[in-house]
Amino acid sequence: MIDAARDVLERVAALGEYRFAFDVRDIGGAAIDATGSPLPDDTIASVKEADAVLLGAVGGPKWSDPAAAVRPEQGLLDLRETLGVFANLRPVRVNPRLAGASPLRPEIIDGVDLLVVRELTGGIYFGDKSRSGTSASDLCTYTTAEIERIVRVAARLALSRRGKLCSVDKANVLETSRLWRSVTDGLLASEFPAVEAETLLVDAAAMHLLSRPADFDVIVTENMFGDILTDEASMLAGSLGLLPSASLGDGTSGLYEPIHGSAPDIAGKNIANPCGTIASAAMLLRHSLKLEDAAHAVESAIDAAIAAGHRTADIAGSDSAAIGTREFTAEVVRNLG
Ligand code: IPM
Ligand code: MG
Repeated sequence: MIDAARDVLERVAALGEYRFAFDVRDIGGAAIDATGSPLPDDTIASVKEADAVLLGAVGGPKWSDPAAAVRPEQGLLDLRETLGVFANLRPVRVNPRLAGASPLRPEIIDGVDLLVVRELTGGIYFGDKSRSGTSASDLCTYTTAEIERIVRVAARLALSRRGKLCSVDKANVLETSRLWRSVTDGLLASEFPAVEAETLLVDAAAMHLLSRPADFDVIVTENMFGDILTDEASMLAGSLGLLPSASLGDGTSGLYEPIHGSAPDIAGKNIANPCGTIASAAMLLRHSLKLEDAAHAVESAIDAAIAAGHRTADIAGSDSAAIGTREFTAEVVRNLG
């Protein structure tokens, strides 16, 4: 996946007559094998120096033993925390040409263009964990400051789009969600009166995402709800392999990764869909390098490859032949000119 995105970035650089310096480092399983740590010190030093970080995916059966002392996923969580990237942007657009790839009826997904803003460095992912005998616990904590900063990001983005913001919580059960709701309501009323605000409980949101997905503009939610809802939302677009993400903090640096995992069942076979990773590179160009034209060109090149009928296996359906990861990437590169 990263090779695909890199081919595209190299082409962008050649066309724009600038040069990207790539520093390739290990994370996850490869890092555990090499050093024992899923996020080695040299990787930490490198990402702190970098203007942006492009990441593939972590995890695999080799490192999934529940009794293992370290897991690849911990490297990813530590990376997000180290970089302070609390705002995870996951855009979901339905390309009408891929409507057939979605399990939902075309009239339901028509016009879907939503953005999930997932809180990424707090909540149950980062709370204390414990296990003793027959009992286990994961602590979920949020502070007012953590909620305010993510809702601000989401509200600003809503104002740059259709002006609608839906906050998703579980305030009928969770204390963290009750805080989330009152902080969100207060902040939107005082700082963003122009935003058209809506609140949904997460179970209802999961349903509304399937029954009226085109109504949503920006959705803001806590870490775990955002993880779950974005996998669900990927089915609107047709494949998990299509969706990019940008994780941003206070500065211009950021972490860019597709929302999918390492898909060990298809890894290394030249059949995976590179769109999510290539589109993540486009977000990197936009948010960290401020190269909006280049970002747009990459997104258009992906769309043009799809418009020309090129499909990887996940979106090919029964009536069109699939091409490989490298072949699809070559089409995107060619479309860049
Ligand atoms: C994601 C992934 C990760 C997460 C895993 C790999 C830790 O599912 O980026 O959505 O849960 O955040
Ligand atoms: Mg996930």
